Amino acid sequence: MAEQIDLFSASGVEATPPPADFDIDKIPTSAKVPIPPGTYTSLDTLAGHCKGCQRCELAETRTNVVVSRGSRTAPIMIIGEGPGQQEDEQGLPFVGRSGQLLEKILGSVRIDSEKDVYICNIVKCRPPENRNPTTAEINACRPYILEQIRLVDPKLILLTGATSVKGIIPSEKRGITKIRGQWIEWEGRLCMPILHPAYLLRNPSREPGKPKWLMWQDIQAVKTKLDEIRAES
Ligand code: URA
Repeated sequence: MAEQIDLFSASGVEATPPPADFDIDKIPTSAKVPIPPGTYTSLDTLAGHCKGCQRCELAETRTNVVVSRGSRTAPIMIIGEGPGQQEDEQGLPFVGRSGQLLEKILGSVRIDSEKDVYICNIVKCRPPENRNPTTAEINACRPYILEQIRLVDPKLILLTGATSVKGIIPSEKRGITKIRGQWIEWEGRLCMPILHPAYLLRNPSREPGKPKWLMWQDIQAVKTKLDEIRAES
């Protein structure tokens, strides 16, 4: 019992007491097993569970589970939708064409993708044919991302695309084009929905009002906020 109390007392968390029949080792076996906030004391333990996870059917078709890259103490967390082919093959998020564009976007305002950013996804296994993850898949994986947020404790969260918004703020019903670029307070954190880099790749125009131009506005606002936060601390 002493061990259990320790397990659920990670700092800076609204940890909830686990159900009486809770068994941490069963988490990766079924989406019916809850993952109460405060379950994980380290990102390594969480990653270990993710790597053996069978909580949804994406486990059957994945090559690698894609957990994260970047800094575990980063002020900014970027949350994508789910791994694509390159990510599935390499086991790292945003390493394909979308990732290359994301790197350029961050670099344009001197945000360092290794030091300033922790990158992850709503679902950690590739949906076949790059289809959108289903609601069941998002829900099965959601406790992992919530624990990643709690453990990394980022100041700012960027939600790339509609699936990322749905995964983190399911109550948000406005479309991505309406809410992109706005800071939304969620669970005491500042989140900004932004367009998905893949959408920018399909819409290459830089004209004012077009997706690339909008992204340029948004990433500058992110950098301004990051600078403000740094100046305050
Ligand atoms: N698109 C995403 O949303 N995530 C990735 O990791 C790669 C592409």
